[in-house]
Amino acid sequence: MSDDLVRLDGVAKHFPVGGGFFGRTAARVKAVDGVSFGIREGQTFGLVGESGCGKSTIAMLLVKLLEPTAGRLTFEGADLARLDRGAMKDFRRRVQIVFQDPYGSLDPRQTMLKALIEPLFTLKVVADRAAAVARAERALEMVGLDREVLKRLPHELSGGQRQRLVVARALAVGPRFVILDEPTSSVDVSLQAQILSLLAELKRGQGLTYLLISHNLVVIRYMSDVVAVMYLGKIVEMASSEELFTRPLHPYTVALISAIPVPDPEASTIAALAKGDVPSPVNLPSGCRYHSRCPYAQTVCREQEPPLRELRAGHYGACHFPGVAASAVPYRPES
Ligand SMILES: Nc1ncnc2c1ncn2[C@@H]1O[C@H](COP(=O)(O)OP(=O)(O)OP(=O)(O)O)[C@@H](O)[C@H]1O
Ligand SMILES: [Mg+2]
Repeated sequence: MSDDLVRLDGVAKHFPVGGGFFGRTAARVKAVDGVSFGIREGQTFGLVGESGCGKSTIAMLLVKLLEPTAGRLTFEGADLARLDRGAMKDFRRRVQIVFQDPYGSLDPRQTMLKALIEPLFTLKVVADRAAAVARAERALEMVGLDREVLKRLPHELSGGQRQRLVVARALAVGPRFVILDEPTSSVDVSLQAQILSLLAELKRGQGLTYLLISHNLVVIRYMSDVVAVMYLGKIVEMASSEELFTRPLHPYTVALISAIPVPDPEASTIAALAKGDVPSPVNLPSGCRYHSRCPYAQTVCREQEPPLRELRAGHYGACHFPGVAASAVPYRPES
């Protein structure tokens, strides 16, 4: 536990929504609602789940762009809520995030040179412009971009170049931990594999640790050592990637895996393992929050929330009937 590079313990983030009368808060979105996990140095930790389940909120909490409603986050053993000025500066450099939308995270009027060197000065990574330019050029080389992009504006780059550029910007400052929020969602399928193998290569070369966020299970499976599946603000299952994809225990994980398009037309698809739409995080279902969509739900599921517990060695699940749907097709990336 203690050798985790990053840890979350009982972390929650609730957002007030709707003004209500007289400015009172009408309701709360429980975007993240009691999440605990640790990431070991050198790991790629995959966080997967449907849109709105709280993945990006966790990313924002980890870079301190948001403060938690409850719980504790630590990096290198230090509580993020208690970093002094010096530690904070160090933290800003050592923890980097590549945002979900690379276009939105670049200033449309700023050249790529400026975009790359500005953080180097802000975070005091370099002392002068020559050192900054040299570092920016090295970062470009790492991601396979030509120096010629330095004078361009964001809209003058292709989607793939923009994605590489934001990766270069994150790596230029020399981080130890990098959060990748949907790193391939903005590029077309033909470029996705290229970007992913670049990220894997950079991780090896730079000795990085990743938190990889995606709703795409194929991406998560390909990249991650450990995978956590989120549903409505909570982790419902967590295990090594191999274990999770071959022996899933939570009906939601089984439903997600079964929904991966299988190239083999002979393979039978499991229909309707998850019924209906995701409920609103403002009005969470009673008991197990997945019960309203679970075909196996019993009375206890509507009444009691199942805790996340170790079901097999290193394999955690939050379900009253783990394994009930596990006879469904395991996902085999080779097929
Ligand atoms: N600032 C905010 N104020 C109110 N609600 C918010 C805020 N930020 C996020 N939410 C809500 O919190 C929930 C989780 O959002 P989040 O962006 O973390 O989901 P996500 O898993 O990253 O989704 P996606 O896959 O679409 O990126 C959603 O219901 C979202 O609408
Ligand atoms: Mg998101």
